[in-house]
Amino acid sequence: MQPKANIVHLPVYQPGKPVDDVKRELGLTEVIKLASNENPFGSSPKAMEAIAREVENISIYPDGAAVELTSALSSYHGVNPDQIIFGAGSDEIILMIARAFLVPGDETIMADQTFPQYKHNAQIENAVILEVPLKEGTHDLFSMLERVTDKTKVVWVCNPNNPTGTINNADEVEWFLSKVPGHVLVVLDEAYCEYIDDTSFPDGIKLLQKYPNVVLLRTFSKIYGLASLRIGYGIGRPDVIRSINQVREPFNTSRFAQAAALAALNDEEFIAKCREANKIGLAYFNNSFAELGLDAFPAYGNFIMVDVKRSGQEVFDALLRKGIIVRAGHKLYPTHIRITVGSQEQNEKVIAALTAVLQEIAVKV
Ligand SMILES: Cc1ncc(COP(=O)(O)O)c(C=O)c1O
Repeated sequence: MQPKANIVHLPVYQPGKPVDDVKRELGLTEVIKLASNENPFGSSPKAMEAIAREVENISIYPDGAAVELTSALSSYHGVNPDQIIFGAGSDEIILMIARAFLVPGDETIMADQTFPQYKHNAQIENAVILEVPLKEGTHDLFSMLERVTDKTKVVWVCNPNNPTGTINNADEVEWFLSKVPGHVLVVLDEAYCEYIDDTSFPDGIKLLQKYPNVVLLRTFSKIYGLASLRIGYGIGRPDVIRSINQVREPFNTSRFAQAAALAALNDEEFIAKCREANKIGLAYFNNSFAELGLDAFPAYGNFIMVDVKRSGQEVFDALLRKGIIVRAGHKLYPTHIRITVGSQEQNEKVIAALTAVLQEIAVKV
C-alpha cells in the first residue's frame, strides 16, 4: 500500500499538552493554558443552555444545511443564505477550499509565517506553495501580488495574522483586491475579527460585495468560546460557496454546534464583555512588556507575540515549569513567544512568571 507521495513527509498534528498531563508531570496544582487563543471566559451561558436542550435529539442526524443558523447569520451579515457555508471549525473550510480549488501544479500564495493549515491542505492537494516573507510581522501584500501568475488559484490572507497578531488595514486589502486578477480566489481569514474595533480594519462583507473572488472565513471558536464544538463558516459569492459545498461532507457540523452557535450569536452582551476584557488585557501586556524592555508586534486579536530576546523555546520550558503554557517554536521567530490574552488574574500571573524567567535565562545576542 502506498499513500499519496506528497503526504508521506507531512507531520501528524501535535496538539498542545493537556492541562491535566502538565499538572501531573510537573506536580503542579494550578496550570494556566494561554496557548491556543481560546476564550478565557468560556462561552455564553445561553449556548450551554441550548446544548442542554439539544440533548434529547442526540439520536437524530443534524441538519446538514444548517438552515436555521444560516438564516440567522444571513440576517446578521446582510448576505443571502446561499453565500454561507459551515465547517467543523474554519479549519474544515480551509480543507474544503483546498479540495475544491487546488489540483496538482496549481500555485497558491501565503505568508511565510501564518496559520499552518493553509500550507498543510495545499500540500495534500500537491499544489505549488509560494511563501512570501512577512514585513515587520505583517502580510506584504505588494510582494504577494508580485508572485501572482496565470497558475495562481488561491491566495491566503490571515487578518489578523496568526501568530504575529498584526493586521492589514482596509486601504491595503482593498488595493490588493483591486489588483488581483479575477481568476484568483482570495481567502480572507478573519478568525479574530470580532475582537477588533479599530476603524482601519477592513469590512470584509463590503469587500465581498465589490470583489467576487473573495471568501471570508469566520469562526465560533474564538470570541464566541465554542472551540470544542468545531464550527466555523465561510461567506462568499454563491458560485464560490456552491463549489465549496460540493466537497462538503453531508453532516459536517453537529446539532450541538449549530444550536450553541445560534444562541452565542444572539448573546451580544457576552461578546461585548469579552471584547472589552481583551482590550484591557492587551493594554496590560503591552505596558508590561514595555516595562520589561521587550518589543511586541501590534496585536489586534486575542493574543500577542513578544520578542523575549532569548530562546523562545527555553522561555516556554521555564514558563511551563511554573505552570504556564504559551506558544513557542515559530520557525522564523525563534526568540518570540505567543501568549493568548487571559483573564486579568491569569495575565498578571503570566507577567510575574515571565519577569522571573527573564532573570534566569541569558539574553541571546
Ligand atoms: C487564523 C486562524 N484561522 C483558523 C483557525 C481555525 O479555527 P477553528 O477551526 O477552530 O474555527 C484558527 C485557530 O486557531 C486561526 O488562528
